[in-house]
Amino acid sequence: MRRVVITSVLLGGLVIGGCESSQKGTGEQNVETQTTQVREMTPEDKALWEKAKLYFQPLPETADINPDNPLNEHKVLLGKMLYYDPRLSLSGFISCNSCHNLATGGVDNLPTSIGHRWQLGPRNSPTVLNAALHTVGQFWDGRAKDVEEQAGKPITNPIEMAMPSEEFAVQRIASIPQYVELFKKAFPNEQDPVNYENIAKAIAAFERTLLTPSRFDEFLKGDPDALTEQEKRGLQAFIEVGCITCHTGPLLGGNMFQKFGLFGNYWEYTGSTKIDSGRYNETKNEADIFMFKVPSLRNITKTYPYFHDGSVWSLDSAIWIMAKVQLGKDLTEEQIADIKAFLAALDGEVPDEALQVPELPPSTKETPLPQR
Ligand code: HEC
Ligand code: HEC
Repeated sequence: MRRVVITSVLLGGLVIGGCESSQKGTGEQNVETQTTQVREMTPEDKALWEKAKLYFQPLPETADINPDNPLNEHKVLLGKMLYYDPRLSLSGFISCNSCHNLATGGVDNLPTSIGHRWQLGPRNSPTVLNAALHTVGQFWDGRAKDVEEQAGKPITNPIEMAMPSEEFAVQRIASIPQYVELFKKAFPNEQDPVNYENIAKAIAAFERTLLTPSRFDEFLKGDPDALTEQEKRGLQAFIEVGCITCHTGPLLGGNMFQKFGLFGNYWEYTGSTKIDSGRYNETKNEADIFMFKVPSLRNITKTYPYFHDGSVWSLDSAIWIMAKVQLGKDLTEEQIADIKAFLAALDGEVPDEALQVPELPPSTKETPLPQR
């Protein structure tokens, strides 16, 4: 159940004593329908709330923020169909949803993903949930600018969906009349809308709808009861210990690169068998060795195993390792339990609309056959 908070609480920290009738005629604006009474904050709640607002913001209402790819209803539906369609892979067997299963937190829960011909990729599949809001790019090393640029890459990646060329992917899709119709509606001003760029744009449009607001957002908007006492202690610890040096903003991540292993070699703690140089692989700049994007912590209880190589299965261990190698600190068991409880309050629901598996149009005689 979602609580609705009176906007004046957000703005002025005003005390909401009465009900809607006491608001009438006071000149208050933006008063929404109130479904749950929001109580006055205690001084402790207020102090924590004000501190939290320095580092975090609630999820925005929408991620429809790319002027090159404005959303419309048809584009989002098309993107959802393509997201779930295994015919975008050479084998006809692997879809985006195979590795970013929306029913399991937008990930595959494997240390590293399995792609074409059962090949193991080098990295853990990060969640697509809220990913459109990353400000330093997509992938663990940020090598794609945004979800639009990202979405075309796995389709032709030989160890992922393995399409031999962009043309081949377009041929598969263009051989299905219902898809052609939908492209025309999704990109109404284009002469020849069935092309690779638009396949990526449609999928990205769908991804832009995958936002998962949580109880923490309610807290940030001013409801002190949205978090339990333990979750509040966890939030306090998360701030005091210094996790907020890196995990900030609306996603608690996604907005900077940082070295993994500031206080020691990360693999000595994670047990990683392969050593990944992170962003350096992409930039060849020495300063980027072991630099990774600080990942979002939303839905973290569902996106195990953890880190860029999925080397750690337990969230308790991941929290302990973070404090150790990023901050040079040893957390107590109690601190770990509290922080974990706080992180769980960041879990949200995938919109129903996105979770309902779409009905896919049938292939035709012209559709290029699957290949192993
Ligand atoms: C075979 C498994 C696999 C398939 C299929 C796959 N992905 Fe991924 N995806 C991954 C892995 C692994 C990464 C991380 C790779 C890296 O960072 O180097 C990733 C990264 C991403 C990211 C970046 C998220 C972030 O936090 O930076 C997005 C978004 C994404 N994939 C969307 C998609 C879409 C859309 C499709 C379908 C067109 C798709 N993926 C198909 C495994 C897969
Ligand atoms: C100096 C920056 C920094 C600090 C401080 C920091 N982190 Fe991280 N965090 C990162 C980076 C970078 C990664 C990605 C590491 C990787 O897998 O390559 C990460 C990954 C994580 C992950 C795993 C995410 C995933 O999807 O696998 C968790 C959980 C996490 N951090 C929690 C915390 C907690 C809790 C704290 C405080 C105790 C903290 N972090 C402090 C930078 C930081």
